[in-house]
Order: sequence, then C-alpha cells, then structure tokens
Amino acid sequence: MARKFFVGGNWKCNGTAEEVKKIVNTLNEAQVPSQDVVEVVVSPPYVFLPLVKSTLRSDFHVAAQNCWVKKGGAFTGEVSAEMLVNLDIPWVILGHSERRALLNESNEFVGDKVAYALAQGLKVIACVGETLEQREAGSTMDVVAAQTKAIADRVSNWSNVVIAYEPVWAIGTGKVASPAQAQEVHDELRKWLAKNVSDDVAATTRIIYGGSVNGGNCKELGGQADVDGFLVGGASLKPEFIDIIKAAE
Ligand code: G3P
Repeated sequence: MARKFFVGGNWKCNGTAEEVKKIVNTLNEAQVPSQDVVEVVVSPPYVFLPLVKSTLRSDFHVAAQNCWVKKGGAFTGEVSAEMLVNLDIPWVILGHSERRALLNESNEFVGDKVAYALAQGLKVIACVGETLEQREAGSTMDVVAAQTKAIADRVSNWSNVVIAYEPVWAIGTGKVASPAQAQEVHDELRKWLAKNVSDDVAATTRIIYGGSVNGGNCKELGGQADVDGFLVGGASLKPEFIDIIKAAE
C-alpha cells in the first residue's frame, strides 16, 4: 500500500496573533498538490490553535505540539488530549527532542503519552532521534530503536501514528542530514518495525524526516525510498513551506 506523503509544520514557540494570521493567509492562497497526494498538518502553539483551526483552509489540518499523559484535572499548565479532541484538533506532536531534552521526557513517558492520546482518538506524530554525541558513538539505531520500542510496547494500532525521525544535531542548526543518512535510518527503522511489530505496520507507517528541511533540500530528501515526508520547523514559518509541500509531487 502506498504511503501518502506527509508534510508537517512545527511552529514551535513562535508567533504573534498577527504573524499567525499572515502565515495562515499565505497557506490559504497557495497552490499545492491535492489531499490525495499530500497530507499537510500545521502545529501552532496551543493559544493559537482555535484561531488557526477556524481560519485555515479545510484541506490542511492542525496539530497541537504536546498534550498531557492522562486525563486532565489538577495539572496546572497542562492541556489534556480530551481538550484537543473537544476542540476538534485531530493531531498532536509527541516526544519532540526539545521536550525530551529540556523537560526530561523519558522514552516511557513519551510512550505513555502516545498511547493515551491515541486512545482518546488523536492522531500522533511521534518524534525520535539521536544527539550528535550518540551518532558519533555509533549508537544512532540503538537510541532510535529504544525510543520506538517504548511506543511499540504501549501501542497496538499504528494506523494513526506517523514517526518523525529528527536527528537532534540537525534541528535548527542548518546541518541537514544527507539524503543517504536520512534514508539509512528510515530504512533501519522500517526494518525494526517489521521485526518487532509487523510487516504490515512497517509497510504502511509513514516515517518522516525533520531537521533543517528547506525549500532547497526537500526534493532530494523526499525522493528517498523510505522518507515519507517532513516535519519542518523554521522553514514552516516562511512562504518556502509551500515549496516543501510541493516536494510531494
Ligand atoms: O519538529 C521540527 C524540527 O524540530 C526541525 O526544526 O527548524 O530544523 O526545521 P528545523
């Protein structure tokens, strides 16, 4: 079964209401391949979710950048999966390396969040990826496998999961993984899924790449056999995000 190309824009902790309106206008006016060819999801900060949801073209979808690990309640500052469902937000990004590093989110905690969000009916972009130190030590695949295993241990239905492979050393650094480096990890990850989950999950789960993707490098990266799209940070705030969406063609 063909895997539909997926392009996510992670706006991270950026933007004012005015800037968000501008980005949405640019997206709304863009000529891009149809929904049959590419699935586009943008992820604004929580506070802008209702604004983006209500003004964004209907063929693009919205993701939150995080959600709480269990049912809401006395968790000051958190946003629950139930709240996202209530607002009709279909997607959530979980396990981003910035949260793993800065907020000490462990593999198990991320796995718990992925399982809980899926159980509430959200679709999940689950992020994995190694640091430079880990890559240089030759442990890239061990790290990525351990992160994926913590999800696989808790999830049985993978149909609403997209895996984002984001090498930490390539995030926001301008140092993009080469197409061969990205393909190598995506291929290994797919083989890991085949061995540890199922051939069907390995064949159908989209594995997207994130880390300094831009209008110039997206075509070659996206042309790799196991690269099924992108999770874009910095460039998703700029008009060049449209060129990245067009890499699906
Ligand atoms: O989630 C996207 C990401 O971390 C990559 O960011 O700015 O390198 O495209 P950037």
